[in-house]
Amino acid sequence: MVKIAPSILSADFAILGDQVRAVEEVGADLLHIDVMDGHFVPNITIGPLVVRALRLVSNMVFDVHLMIENPDRYINEFAAAGADIITVHIETCSHLHRTLQMIKQTGKKAGLAFNPATPPGSLDYVLPLLDLILVMTVNPGFGGQKFIQQMLPKIKQISQFLKEQKPDVLLEVDGGINKETACGVVKAGANVLVAGSAVFGAADPSAAVRALRQASCC
Ligand code: DX5
Ligand code: ZN
Repeated sequence: MVKIAPSILSADFAILGDQVRAVEEVGADLLHIDVMDGHFVPNITIGPLVVRALRLVSNMVFDVHLMIENPDRYINEFAAAGADIITVHIETCSHLHRTLQMIKQTGKKAGLAFNPATPPGSLDYVLPLLDLILVMTVNPGFGGQKFIQQMLPKIKQISQFLKEQKPDVLLEVDGGINKETACGVVKAGANVLVAGSAVFGAADPSAAVRALRQASCC
């Protein structure tokens, strides 16, 4: 079963609680929370304070995507704020094994993200620590960008690897996912679809989640 993870990056932050409740009520599986620091990516978004506030109004699985340098500094804070999955970018971790260990020590699930131009190396060595792999299908930093088709073979490659080595690891895709691109990534092996603008950019986010779920059943 493919999971749908609306990304709050495209939500209306003035009514964030209401928007989260709407996608929770329609049965979205995870809430994708994009944390950007203005260094690793050009944009600045939110920190643990907002995660903590949302934790009080939602029981969804919080899927926290850290697009920040020195993620080690903030892992404990995001864990305490209510993250369920903490994903770091391989490009930001000089001591990746240690960083993933830190996440696991908080009792949370650990994810590893790859930028579009980053090959999925290192997986052999850190797989025991991983609960989720995130393939970026746009360059991180902004919502509403176009899906990069060249990521399909990468998704296939990782999916095959996981089938053989650790099938319970989630394979998430993030960037440019909508009704048109959903089926292709699912066929390639993705089982968690992040969608920002396709959900919160729509007039009716609940209907958009349903439409995405339908498009992913292909
Ligand atoms: C981009 C973020 C995404 C973003 C996706 O850097 O990681 O989660 O919200 O937005 P869409 O779905 O609009 O491409
Ligand atoms: Zn994201």
